[in-house]
Amino acid sequence: MAIDPKIQAAINKQINHEMTAAYNYLAMVVYFDQINLAGFAFWMQKQHEEELAHASKLFKYLSDRGGVVELEAIPKPSAKFDSVAQVFEAALAMEQANTASINSVYALAKEMNDYATLSHLQWFLDEQVEEEKTMEETLGLVRFVGDDKSALLTLNNQMANRQDEGEGAGG
Ligand SMILES: [Fe+2]
Ligand SMILES: [Fe+2]
Repeated sequence: MAIDPKIQAAINKQINHEMTAAYNYLAMVVYFDQINLAGFAFWMQKQHEEELAHASKLFKYLSDRGGVVELEAIPKPSAKFDSVAQVFEAALAMEQANTASINSVYALAKEMNDYATLSHLQWFLDEQVEEEKTMEETLGLVRFVGDDKSALLTLNNQMANRQDEGEGAGG
């Protein structure tokens, strides 16, 4: 069954959301590089790659459904942060906004009885639970560390152990 143009538009918007998240995480890599927190930079690099993978997943799905992928402009992200905590506050806010965005695509697919899209989006709903949890936990750790530079360096080393697909340090 051909994909509805409204759902196609919503998925294209979601592809842009994922690419925008990827670009913002890359800006966070820039920030961590600048302040020599290589572990945090590595962790954010993985996060960046995950978001690219999310965009690719939606790209492939839309294409598999015979839809037309439309690539919109990605806004310029800011790499200016005052603290490590501020980075994770921004990351958490971004994930919460992305959850809301996926929810709205899901609601539309439900309204239009597009069961294949609902099934595909299920993975994204589960992923968002993980993403918000990871950002909340990491923000909590960063706040706990506070001004203790020695503890921050320990956390930095731990962040370098992040595995692919969200496993490892900080979730
Ligand atoms: Fe994502
Ligand atoms: Fe994400």
